Amino acid sequence: MLITAGPTHEPIDAVRYIANRSSGRMGIALASAARQAGWEVTLLLGHVHLPPPDGVKVISFSSTADLEALLDECFPWCDVLVMAAAVADYRPRDVAQGKLARGEETLFLELEPTSDLVARCAARRGPDQRVVGFALEESSVIDERAVEKLRRKNLDALVANPLATMGSSKISATLYLPDGRRMSPPTPVAGETESDKNEFARWLVDWIGTEFRLR
Ligand code: CTP
Repeated sequence: MLITAGPTHEPIDAVRYIANRSSGRMGIALASAARQAGWEVTLLLGHVHLPPPDGVKVISFSSTADLEALLDECFPWCDVLVMAAAVADYRPRDVAQGKLARGEETLFLELEPTSDLVARCAARRGPDQRVVGFALEESSVIDERAVEKLRRKNLDALVANPLATMGSSKISATLYLPDGRRMSPPTPVAGETESDKNEFARWLVDWIGTEFRLR
């Protein structure tokens, strides 16, 4: 299983970057659960403060371009890609040489779109490969955005969570499938919608093994 986790850092100059609040917790929990379930796991990991699990091959990335190159290398060899990384949608068009100096004028950064990495992988997957994406959405539009994203990126499954999930140890996720099914893990307390990310990871890994019949 190939899992991506954590934020991308898009350089502005030699010392500054644009990033996001992803802690990598979800992807690291998935890597740990997959390893415990007997999968051979490669984890592509951005800059995070959490340690990766034992028994997993870890390759670090910084920018979206780094992650794109690693996916080009690793994706052809995996059975399942789980794309939990929080990938930048835009990056500075030009990276300044050295360190930008302070001035009195307004400074404009021109941003260019990055390529959609999970959609690229999905577009070239083989018949026995599966691609699972994640989506972080405002609660009010989560349903319509998840369905649209699953279709647009041509994924085998999409885990959608509300914005509060980022950086939290809890997750309130729904799994969307191309045939219209929607699933949520059982929660420890009846009526609660949140699970611990480790519990959710075990549930998702178990579901992947059963649904895709890959183990
Ligand atoms: N993703 C990706 N490449 C990008 C941006 C996102 O592979 N350049 C992946 C993420 O890893 C995640 C999925 O796409 O699995 C959804 O990410 P999200 O940021 O929610 O979707 P976007 O397509 O960027 O949509 P938007 O920001 O417009 O909601």
